[in-house]
Amino acid sequence: MKNNSIVIESNNLSKSLAASNEGGDKSNSSQTLQILHLINLKINQGESVAITGSSGSGKTTLLGLLAGLDVPTSGEVTLLDKKLSTLDEDQRAALRLGKVGFVFQSFHLMDNLTALENVMLPLELDSSLSLNNSAIRDRAKEALSQVGLEPRINHLPTQLSGGEQQRVALARAFVSNPTILFADEPTGNLDSNTGNEIVDLLFEMQQQNNTTLILVTHDDELAKKCETHYRIENGRIDNSEQEASLIENKKEVYVS
Ligand SMILES: Nc1ncnc2c1ncn2[C@@H]1O[C@H](COP(=O)(O)OP(=O)(O)O)[C@@H](O)[C@H]1O
Ligand SMILES: [Mg+2]
Repeated sequence: MKNNSIVIESNNLSKSLAASNEGGDKSNSSQTLQILHLINLKINQGESVAITGSSGSGKTTLLGLLAGLDVPTSGEVTLLDKKLSTLDEDQRAALRLGKVGFVFQSFHLMDNLTALENVMLPLELDSSLSLNNSAIRDRAKEALSQVGLEPRINHLPTQLSGGEQQRVALARAFVSNPTILFADEPTGNLDSNTGNEIVDLLFEMQQQNNTTLILVTHDDELAKKCETHYRIENGRIDNSEQEASLIENKKEVYVS
């Protein structure tokens, strides 16, 4: 259920990088590579949003900017009512803690920790929770049982299949009951059957927790499972696609 409060907003968000001048230009002029150009979007609490586009179109860069992992060249991101430009790196990390979860293509588990320890980690890091170790352990176990991994909680990531590792990553992402979950190609390293299982779990947990989901994918079929669809090409959002998808879903249109 949505309460129509905006949890992420971007205004004229742009990112460019200085490109090295391989041509030996004597003028020493620096070239810039425009990665994202004037991205405007508004995402509501509980909404599921797909961001698609071909490889290199800027999807991962956009996700990093929206999550405050990266800083824009110009424009603004408002995340959970905070203008990210007013926060330094530590303050952005503090804002994410307990409220923003991530799932990546390559799982990003800590190799030296068991499945259970990986899922306990975000709760241990969040001192505001003031949970003792056994309460943390219980919550992590519960999250792992939700993803069907109870029998393997003491396994290291290297002892788990790709699909199992992504289940651990899902449990870790949801254990704090985050407001927002960013998922970057979460099925990219999995075969299609395993990928479908992960997708089903992801949407099940998203709906159960009323989590806002920002799902980056190059898979249009997967994108259709989301309420809203933004397509990026060459660093720009193709609004016609988004409007078509919104009309299809009979949703409010938020195109600035
Ligand atoms: N740190 C970086 N340095 C140089 N180029 C980068 C960097 N990060 C991204 N790019 C370039 O920006 C473009 C968008 O990258 P990315 O956001 O990773 O695309 P996608 O996730 O859609 O595949 C690509 O052309 C990529 O090569
Ligand atoms: Mg990417």
